[in-house]
Parts: sequence; C-alpha cells; structure tokens
Amino acid sequence: MPSLSVNIDHVATVRQARMTNEPDPVWAATLAELGGAEGITLHLREDRRHVQERDLHLLGQTAAVRLNLELACSDDVLKIACQTRPFQATLVPERREEVTTEGGLDVAGNPAHVADAVKRLQDAGIVVSLFIDPDRAQIDAAVASGANAVELHTGAYAHAAAEFSAADQLQVLHDAAAQVVSAGLTLHAGHGLTYRNVRPVAKIPQMCELNIGHSIISRAIMVGLEQAVRDMSRLVSS
Ligand code: PXP
Repeated sequence: MPSLSVNIDHVATVRQARMTNEPDPVWAATLAELGGAEGITLHLREDRRHVQERDLHLLGQTAAVRLNLELACSDDVLKIACQTRPFQATLVPERREEVTTEGGLDVAGNPAHVADAVKRLQDAGIVVSLFIDPDRAQIDAAVASGANAVELHTGAYAHAAAEFSAADQLQVLHDAAAQVVSAGLTLHAGHGLTYRNVRPVAKIPQMCELNIGHSIISRAIMVGLEQAVRDMSRLVSS
C-alpha cells in the first residue's frame, strides 16, 4: 500500500492571489495530517509564485509527518533545502512560463548536473527522489545519478483522452515501475491523479508513495464551501 503525501501548493496559490495570510498552507498541512496524510509535499519555485520560504521553515518545525520538498536543480533552492533539511527532496524541472510542472526532469540529458544536486542533498542528510517520465533511458540515468527514489510522472496516464489509451499508459507505468524496483530504487508516482483515476496507480506493485495536490484541494473547496457560506451568512444576518 502506498503512502499519501498531500501537496499543499494550491492552498498557497489562493493566499498569494491576494498576498495576504489566508489560507495558510501550514494550517492546511495540519488538517491533511489529521485526515491521514503520511507526508506533506510542497514546491518552492524559483519565482515563489505560491509556496514561500516562510512556509517551508514553519513546516520544518511543525509537520509531524515526512516533509517532501520539490525543487529545481538550481543553486538558490538547493542551498535553502540543505539548510532546512526536509526528510525528502524531489528534483523537478521548472520553467517560469509553465502553469504546473510539465514533463519529467531530463536526467539523461544532464547527468552530471543532476548527480551533483543529488549529492549535495544527500550530503545534507536528505533522501532524494527524481521526478521523471516513465521512460527506460530516464530511469537508467536516475539509477546512475545515485538518487534514492524515482517519482514516475503520471500525467500521460491521467490525461489520456480515451480508456484504451489510459490502459496503454498504465502499462507504460507498470513497466517503468518494474524497472525502478529491480534497480533497487524506491517507487513514487504523481501528477494529475484524481479520485477517479488513482486506484490503478495505487495498485502498482511496490508503489511506495503517491503525491497528490490539485484534486484534493479542489475537493476541499467543494466539501467546505457550503459550511463557509453558512458561517458568513450567520454573521451577515445577525
Ligand atoms: N508530483 C510532482 C513532482 C509535481 O510537480 C506535482 C505538481 O505540483 C504533483 C506531484 C502533484 O500533481 P497534482 O497537483 O496534479 O496532484
């Protein structure tokens, strides 16, 4: 059974829309823990569009479950990670103009750069995972980089338009997972997973961790909105 690590970036996205102090992703992390999350994931982007350094520092002090910091292989955030020392770091590609992380890290195309980042993080005592496409060459390169784990990008599966193409993409994930596990790396997956499509991925043998954000935060808005309006309505009419 994989563990669930809840990505709280989108709570910070709503906060940053007004540059205020609510909703606080640190509170959200506590609620996620109360709901059974076994990990909290956050992405400190170079442009700081959602998560701020303050969030990472506070979560480092308050999270009772494993903290998984997503970051690019860039000096600025690597330094912050090594100082803050979350339990785990997941190296991801990053482009300023993207809406969310698009595609996996090109480990095969930048082996020395990635291996250097892996070593810096591991020397600081951090477990390192690489977010990559389910591709043989990328997995071989991830193994060679010395990383502890691989997070398989599930976007192609999640966004497959038809059921038969989702089945094809699920097979791609199974094959990639078998390669990761036989190389001795820990298996993670994430991106685009929802309440509808998560189960086949959760059932992949030896799947250890799933990182899920957007779908959980989306549902939280829906299941919480009615009560939030009731609370405001009571104040307005009292
Ligand atoms: N894993 C990684 C590496 C990501 O970059 C993201 C998106 O922030 C996720 C998982 C979660 O994706 P989603 O928000 O679609 O659940």
